[in-house]
Amino acid sequence: MDKLIIEGGVPLIGSMTISGSKNAALPILFASILLDEAATLRNVPDLRDIHTTLKLLGMLGCSCEYQDEQVRVRPGSLLPEAPYELVRTMRASVLCLGPLLARIGQARVALPGGCAIGARPVDQHLKGLEQMGARFELEQGYILGHCRELNGAHITFDMPTVGGTENLLMAAVLAEGETILENAAREPEVVDLAHFLLACGAHIEGQGTSRIHIAGVSRLHGAEYAVMSDRIEAGTFLAAAGITCGELLLRHCPANELEAVTLKLQDMGMKITTTSEGVLVNCARPLRGVDVTTKPYPGFPTDMQAQIMSLMCLAEGTSVVEETIFENRFMHVMELERMGAQIRTSGHIAMVRGVRRLAGAPVMASDLRASASLVLAGLAANGTTEVRRIYHLDRGYERIENKLNSVGARIRREKE
Ligand code: UD1
Repeated sequence: MDKLIIEGGVPLIGSMTISGSKNAALPILFASILLDEAATLRNVPDLRDIHTTLKLLGMLGCSCEYQDEQVRVRPGSLLPEAPYELVRTMRASVLCLGPLLARIGQARVALPGGCAIGARPVDQHLKGLEQMGARFELEQGYILGHCRELNGAHITFDMPTVGGTENLLMAAVLAEGETILENAAREPEVVDLAHFLLACGAHIEGQGTSRIHIAGVSRLHGAEYAVMSDRIEAGTFLAAAGITCGELLLRHCPANELEAVTLKLQDMGMKITTTSEGVLVNCARPLRGVDVTTKPYPGFPTDMQAQIMSLMCLAEGTSVVEETIFENRFMHVMELERMGAQIRTSGHIAMVRGVRRLAGAPVMASDLRASASLVLAGLAANGTTEVRRIYHLDRGYERIENKLNSVGARIRREKE
């Protein structure tokens, strides 16, 4: 297992390029199951979750080649089983359910189970697919799904779910007739998936709104498609400039999709401007405290909650964070406290009282975004911070230490 050793206190100065979005690439890779022909995907980040997905696609009967951020997926004769060994390392594996049912009328997918940030059920995925004609049983921890065919349906989600919307969208593009998804997730990654499916010949309207209309087609052809840039990686690096009092130019930064984050960072005192070359960010201390409530898009993303909390730890005054999407998403709090942060939590609310400095310490990463918040805190802290269990970080950030070191950070990777 690897750990990162960070010597803190260096302002980050320079430019970096934002990678392709993990959360957009994953559903698009699963959508390639729906095609009759090969798909070529560009801007696919070199991350553990991506390689897990390619492995799973291989087990499902597709052949995949990955080179230089480009994937070619060729459809083969499909098999229905997504085994627990893969699903337990990556919950997004459940996204093969819709495409498998649409293509071969059966799926055997391990139930993902709990994870560090809460229970994360898939009831909305199953309920929607049932409305389209699928039937499910639970057998030895596996969801067994089957259908003679999928039919269009009018589906209303109980809450906007990103994965649920993606699974249903993928099922609906090949279903018989029309499907309407109400209270759908509006996240940019859902829109990116819809754009990929449109490029393959699907009929979809309303992506990016809470009402998506899909008219089923009988087949989808291949396409070449470039995955959108990662708004959460970009947000994390904006925060890195802020917490180290540096100046960064982020190329390929999806500025429009990051508005809720940039507005908050500006409220904290950071200067963020969009130039022809990318997004330029700099920060003159001191940062000011702000209040943040996580919401579905276009609200403040839960995937940036831990990172902005690290900034709050060093901001003037008191900040309040309300996490409304996932229970149990304050795992970083205790680790930040070990570095000198002053945080009080009560249920899904955290109150952060800004301190003048953080002190380096050995800390333990618990989930992907919590790990990123500890790296940010380490970049700003006095002395040395050791972030352990960074396999979480490697699931979602491409070569994070190389990217940060290229703008002045002092981070090295060691075996634990
Ligand atoms: C996706 C992102 C994740 C992000 C999250 C919210 C991927 C691979 N992951 O996760 O990084 O943090 O969106 O923006 O894209 N829910 C149910 N029943 C369901 C489905 C969801 O109750 O069937 C609940 C969840 O427990 C949660 C909320 O709905 O409280 C939102 O979850 P959802 O949007 O589905 O998150 P994911 O798609 O798993």
